[in-house]
Amino acid sequence: MRLLAIETSCDETSAAVIHDAAVESLVVSSQIKIHAEYGGVVPELATREHLANLQPVVRQALSEAGITADSLDAIAATRGPGLPPALMIGWKAAQSMAYALAKPLVGVHHIQAHLYSPWFTENPLRAEWELFEPNVSLVVSGGHTLLVKAETPLQHSVLGSTQDDAAGECFDKTAKLLGLAYPGGPEIDRLAKDGDPNAFEFARPMLNQSNDDFSFSGLKTSVRYFLDKNPNIATDNSLLPDLCASIQAAIVEVLQKKTLRAAKRERVSCITLSGGVACNRSLRQRFQGACEHAGIQLRLALAVLCTDNAAMIGLLAEKQLELGMEPAGLADDIRPSWAITGG
Ligand code: KG4
Ligand code: ZN
Repeated sequence: MRLLAIETSCDETSAAVIHDAAVESLVVSSQIKIHAEYGGVVPELATREHLANLQPVVRQALSEAGITADSLDAIAATRGPGLPPALMIGWKAAQSMAYALAKPLVGVHHIQAHLYSPWFTENPLRAEWELFEPNVSLVVSGGHTLLVKAETPLQHSVLGSTQDDAAGECFDKTAKLLGLAYPGGPEIDRLAKDGDPNAFEFARPMLNQSNDDFSFSGLKTSVRYFLDKNPNIATDNSLLPDLCASIQAAIVEVLQKKTLRAAKRERVSCITLSGGVACNRSLRQRFQGACEHAGIQLRLALAVLCTDNAAMIGLLAEKQLELGMEPAGLADDIRPSWAITGG
């Protein structure tokens, strides 16, 4: 089985060629610099960029894999959730290719692709489905914060999610309050490295509630009030690392403790971590320490697969076909607000 996968749900244009659970090529064209000027993703600009970049990105992916389109067995693309006009570019291109080549079209759920990405390993980049074991999975991206129990590949149930802002959104919005560049998550991560996480005390929202839900909008508001009340701190650049480390510690502690608690309650011996925020150094370290202490196996998504990419879309698409899931029909359309469901 050899397939081409396309991802255009937000601000990365990406294509990958997958062959028997291995990634033969992966090309990602990021638009971060274009959107940075506006402090967030501008859907109209993202769409125009996808339109301009998709063809060269797909051509490059095919050429790096050393194949032509006629040797493909299927075409896969992100069907949702995501920005509707951005999704539309990748989906329509995939539909056209599937039609022209008379091959199946596979629609992939973007968050499910993040969810299973910790099972994709490197050297060479491939899926390790044979090692899969039941797990509790934390998916933390710019738009989602989800705790999921996964029993087998593509059989999962959502345990909890954020009631308001996603963890990535909280990083980005608090970074904005601190005057940092977009996207704020990596900036906070970088500055926090030299800061004291105990310098300032911020709330740990919903940490002591026994459910698996999260809430991050209150933390953002408490940072705003804190900066308003302490203008001397807000304007003192030498305190920026301490502020970043303290904010990061609040987000990371809630994510780590609630995930460990859920894993123990669900009696699983494996935790996985994925999504853009899973790049965060402190989050990775804290999960590593806590899982080691609890005797739980931890599978972290590779850094290259934490942010949006077509390799995770293609590897999951191949699994969907292998499990006998129906491909999409050529008349089927995008699903911008596709709820995550499983098995
Ligand atoms: O998964 P992703 O690339 O896109 C979505 O599907 O949302 O996640 C992007 C999010 C952004 O909020 C970004 O600030 C955050 O991931 N992020 C980080 C780090 N790298 C990316 N947050 C904290 N620390 C990082 N190192
Ligand atoms: Zn994503």
